[in-house]
Amino acid sequence: MIQIHPAGRLKLAVLASGRGSNFDAIYIAAQEGRLDADIKVLISDKAESLALQKARQRQIPAYFLDPKAYGSKSAYETEVVSLLRRHQAEVVALAGYMRLVGKVMLEEYKHRIVNIHPALLPAFPGLNAQRQALEYGVKFSGCTVHLVDEGMDTGPIIMQRVVPVYDDDDEDSLSARILEQEHQIYWQSLQLMAEGRLYLDGRRVIVKA
Ligand code: GRF
Repeated sequence: MIQIHPAGRLKLAVLASGRGSNFDAIYIAAQEGRLDADIKVLISDKAESLALQKARQRQIPAYFLDPKAYGSKSAYETEVVSLLRRHQAEVVALAGYMRLVGKVMLEEYKHRIVNIHPALLPAFPGLNAQRQALEYGVKFSGCTVHLVDEGMDTGPIIMQRVVPVYDDDDEDSLSARILEQEHQIYWQSLQLMAEGRLYLDGRRVIVKA
């Protein structure tokens, strides 16, 4: 079994593309002392990302890196990794980061990249997970925090939370119900990492007492 992170404060980077509500939840958990982490840097692939603005307001070093300015995914990720290193980030939390992570980042941060997905994986990976769940007609959905591997939402699962799907739900109401749980399980998963309690056994994540 591999320990995912030794006990100790996380040196965290956040990668985000959008509004940044998961970033908010992580930031507030750290501010309030529920999460032993320092957010060292935030990187966005979208200039207009609200997460970027929020990081700047919070005096967290924040960068927009435009993927279009690089010739390849590897070239882009080499730049991301160099920023992460410069800010001494040891763990990377993807928080609504809308790109598939490639081999440059995966090699540098093996088992140290975490993502949150708004469905109970392995159901409904990829985009529009809440719409996929509604259209499929499941009675329960939820969210998943998982380690990132080379696949699309396929890595080892750290934590999941279930929510009911009601007959009168639409994408917005279901997304809101799921989001509330995302905002809990993301920092809780990261805190388990900070406590040195997460171990990887094959593709199972074991939480030690
Ligand atoms: C969340 O639903 C998350 O699960 C998914 O993208 C959304 C990001 O929302 N990966 P926010 O930017 O954190 O508000």
